[in-house]
Amino acid sequence: MNPEGINIILHIVGARPQFIKLAPVVQAFQDLSIPYKVLHTGQHYDYTMSDLHFDSLGLQAPDYYLGIASDSHARQTALMLQGIEDVLIKETPKMVLVYGDTNSTLAGALAAVKLGIRVGHVAAGVRSYDRTMPEEINRIVADHISDHHFCPTQTAVNILKTEGIEGILTGDVMYDALLHVRGEDLTHPYTGDYVLVTIHRAENTDNREKFLAIWEALKLISQHISVIFPVHPRTRNKFVRVLADTGSHIDVIDPVSYFTMLAMIRDTRCMITDSGGVQKEAFLLGTPCVTIRGTTEWPETVHSGANRLVATEPDTILNAVLTMMDMKVINTNNPFGDGHASRKIAEFIKDHCL
Ligand code: UD1
Repeated sequence: MNPEGINIILHIVGARPQFIKLAPVVQAFQDLSIPYKVLHTGQHYDYTMSDLHFDSLGLQAPDYYLGIASDSHARQTALMLQGIEDVLIKETPKMVLVYGDTNSTLAGALAAVKLGIRVGHVAAGVRSYDRTMPEEINRIVADHISDHHFCPTQTAVNILKTEGIEGILTGDVMYDALLHVRGEDLTHPYTGDYVLVTIHRAENTDNREKFLAIWEALKLISQHISVIFPVHPRTRNKFVRVLADTGSHIDVIDPVSYFTMLAMIRDTRCMITDSGGVQKEAFLLGTPCVTIRGTTEWPETVHSGANRLVATEPDTILNAVLTMMDMKVINTNNPFGDGHASRKIAEFIKDHCL
């Protein structure tokens, strides 16, 4: 029990996609009257990466904010471990819930398991099988030290089985989030045809040549159709001068809210991305997608024909976008659940963990 004499569940988040996943899960917790608190590590701290999402998703301010911002992987994770441990000792939660694959996920799961606190992993069993990605290491470790594995797809359950872990098929909480806001009036300021771009993965932004090839591709594409590029701070910080190339006809903008992003994904002729979440959102909103990566965590989107993986070569990217732009995406098969993943997670926790 915590100092207030209550058994709580502690949600640990820190990065933009985790705030989006958190929203439907805390709603389900409220619906089932499950006591909880939220810890935000501070991994994402810019207004457009953090507060904007708490505000627009109607999330209450976190109970704990650790303020651990950008640093090397080891230092960032180490500082998180210390800060999270202090909170765990104070709150003695019955369980910790971690989300996805960021350094905040890794630190949350590790700090908790070392104190003998039960860990649940939301979005468990997801793999790209590319161990050069920091996210892949975070996922593998989080899965192997967690007690409960809430899997977004049957593929994820199958993957965990091969690793000797029993997953619980709940569906994807990101689909819940999307359905939740789909009823809202989703608008954005752009008219006419455009392609929408997000690029932030370390594999594309830590390697200057790769990013310059992607930028070259976007310039080629902008000769055919408007290009809108909401830029993640990682990309902005590394390529300030490249992004200021005014001869480019590319609309470089700040990151937008979840609501605006969904509206823009829905209305774009084609999505160009290296984000895992955006690949799924494009698929679910019926938008063709070109993913600039060699692997994906979401093979279902590729098998359906709605998503194509391409290498960082300007002409290859241009040709893929020109082809995909004219594609009609009809998803008869949705592998991401029935929109009640959060409820299933909350029910499981209420029955087994409190
Ligand atoms: C993290 C996750 C990634 C997730 C992404 C979503 C890890 C290892 N990676 O990557 O899985 O897809 O979040 O956005 O946890 N920065 C700012 N302001 C911010 C946040 C970041 O300027 O609010 C800049 C900093 O220059 C920082 C860089 O972005 O060095 C990278 O931040 P980092 O914590 O490594 O995470 P992401 O690249 O955002």
